[in-house]
Amino acid sequence: MRNIRHNRQRRLPHFLLSSLLCSILCSLSAHAKPSDKVIEAKVNALLNKMTLAEKIGQMNQVNYALTEDQALAAIKSGQAGAILNPTGVGEDTDLKKINALQRLALEHSPSKIPLLFARDVIHGFKTIFPIPLGLAATFNPLLVEQGARIAAQEARAAGVHITFAPMLDIARDARWGRIAESFGEDPYLVSQMGIAMIHGFQTNDLSAVDSLGATAKHFFGYGATEGGRDYNSTNIPPGQLRNVYLPPFKAAVENGVVSVMTSFNENDGIPATANRYALQEILRKQWGFRGFVVSDWNATGELIVHGYVQNRKQAAERAINAGIDMEMFTGSFLENLPTLISEGKVSLQTVNDRVRNILRIKYKMGLFDHPFFDEQTAREAFLKPDSLTSARQTAEQSVVMLKNDRQTLPLKSINTLAIIGPLADKPHEQIGTWSWDGDETAVITPLAAFRQEKTLTVLYQPGLEYSRDKSTDAFAKTIEAVKQADAAVVFLGEEAILSGEAHSLANLNLVGAQSELLAAVKKTGKPVVLVVMAGRPLTIERDLPNADAVLYSFHPGTMGGPALRDLILGKANPSGKLPVTFVRQVGQIPLYYNHNNTGRPAPAEEQLDTLDTIPVGATQTSLGNTSYYLDAGRDPLFPFGYGLSYSNFAYGELQLSSNQIHLQDTLTAKVKVTNSSNIDGTEVVQLYLRDPVSSRVRPVKELKAFKRVPLKAGETQTVSFTLTSKDLAFYNGDDHFTAEPGEFQIWVGGDSQHGPQANFRLVP
Ligand code: NOJ
Repeated sequence: MRNIRHNRQRRLPHFLLSSLLCSILCSLSAHAKPSDKVIEAKVNALLNKMTLAEKIGQMNQVNYALTEDQALAAIKSGQAGAILNPTGVGEDTDLKKINALQRLALEHSPSKIPLLFARDVIHGFKTIFPIPLGLAATFNPLLVEQGARIAAQEARAAGVHITFAPMLDIARDARWGRIAESFGEDPYLVSQMGIAMIHGFQTNDLSAVDSLGATAKHFFGYGATEGGRDYNSTNIPPGQLRNVYLPPFKAAVENGVVSVMTSFNENDGIPATANRYALQEILRKQWGFRGFVVSDWNATGELIVHGYVQNRKQAAERAINAGIDMEMFTGSFLENLPTLISEGKVSLQTVNDRVRNILRIKYKMGLFDHPFFDEQTAREAFLKPDSLTSARQTAEQSVVMLKNDRQTLPLKSINTLAIIGPLADKPHEQIGTWSWDGDETAVITPLAAFRQEKTLTVLYQPGLEYSRDKSTDAFAKTIEAVKQADAAVVFLGEEAILSGEAHSLANLNLVGAQSELLAAVKKTGKPVVLVVMAGRPLTIERDLPNADAVLYSFHPGTMGGPALRDLILGKANPSGKLPVTFVRQVGQIPLYYNHNNTGRPAPAEEQLDTLDTIPVGATQTSLGNTSYYLDAGRDPLFPFGYGLSYSNFAYGELQLSSNQIHLQDTLTAKVKVTNSSNIDGTEVVQLYLRDPVSSRVRPVKELKAFKRVPLKAGETQTVSFTLTSKDLAFYNGDDHFTAEPGEFQIWVGGDSQHGPQANFRLVP
């Protein structure tokens, strides 16, 4: 599917266009881009001059934030190739320090090779955008690219060269805290978002002074962690690996990502950080990756804990021989490579190859030409008005409306509004996980945003101090406030600390006394709007009856407040769609739309038995023998791709350019989409495909394309998608990617469950 290409062909926003133009022109005027050949020659010349100790030093990524003295010593002696966390952890960046570290390397280290500064810039640097799950909900790669561009400009201005993003793990389990950092459950959506982020970070000129190197992580399978418990084992068979977990990484490599990070998990007994087949065969040979592979934090050291190696020496041997170029934090390469080489367990050629991968990127990024940054002007790059506008627009499009009974939203004719809930005014929680450098003082909370509305009287009562608060002491005064208001907007969800790395949960209900607070507000009889700010899909089924309307905002970032206010007051119209399936109960996990069919799928149309309807003394075979839960049924609470709008969108018939295509042909699918309401809105039109009979069982549906389509009130547009046989293909053998002739089913709709269908045949 050419979707990203044609998304990218759409007119770029003025802001993005001028910044891209500048990065091209500025870099052109400063220096011409050296060719790959020239770079290889430079790399080899430098390599020839380096001692073995220096080469090993290049492979060492030192954590500055926790070990400042050691870092300084390592830099001086040429034992550090990269510095992790140069900006410190959770503190205001001392910009002078970063240049000082670089100066140390360039003036005192033996070969004077510039350091690479690395940092987790995940969804913004100072200007924080929605968490990646929220970014995915925009279904808008252009905005994701724009956000990454802004993050790159801010981070590079502060001396950071490379970020550990995008995270491309497929996340099908909301218990896993890192689902927040993911783009959700679908390989196509994750790929498109990943590509957009890489382009935004790196642009197409890596040597530009504002180009931030991207890292595709975590290679591979980390999101499939057993039971959603972080760092756990995964059991991904080859077919699933090729068709579900690897495509976003392949797309990242095809789009020039400079680095790939290995993951913590072991898959089927082999830790990813020591998986030679994945790193050599797939990544290097089959995909032709030319950047460097970095192990995740102490992942080499953890090979011992996994029980895969005996000691740090063996860990270093396995990791480097498998294909790790740079070791993050552990230091086992530094310690053990000299001996391993003298014992012939690691070859000099391996070392040279690994170091070459690192130096190549340092040259490509122009670090030898411009190793320093201007610390005097750096802060001018932070939180620019355009950046805040972009963050606000992204936050607006990341919000998914899940319910809107009797058109409760947008709120109209409201004079007095009760703003309730522990997350209505919490800058730290609003920016979510992985926002170390985010400027909390710049955050505009929903409370602050509503207070900017001159015509509105705002009555604020948090009801609970924080999301886990169980005390109902403040409920009485909260309810009093609601009674005096025309409507209540209740901000519930999760504090930032409840999602992200190592923050898995077994229970996904709203924590603390939040459900009780919502129920108490509802009892007043006033219209109730629930806004959920969370790092993951929570199980909110039991809360739905207590809200007339529900907006799911994930953690929306710096400008989440104004975005939510504008949606609630109707100055903006919701257009976000779910990038993951929302389950009704935790016990349904994993539940994802693109599953394979069982031999006994539960029927959609039949009323399924539930625990309450099963007759006492029923015989074993009386329940239909299909695949569903007696106590949770078959379906999710909300399907992938779902999201309401203040507008109504009607789909016409799906028309195909032909009912039969050959392998080399293209197929055009067209559908008329009408905004049948009197409100302008934007629909995310989604195309799904199924290969119903094939040599391997295939998913019941797979997203293959999407388009955001703005439609004026009453307007109709014909939306068309063009497919090639590549879009019909899958891996039916280890690396055998093919489209199998036969019947195909195609749907176009506003979510993964609805929309007109048509069929066609692929003939050889
Ligand atoms: C561990 C995390 O798994 C990884 O995603 C992150 O980039 C590194 N730590 C560095 O902070």
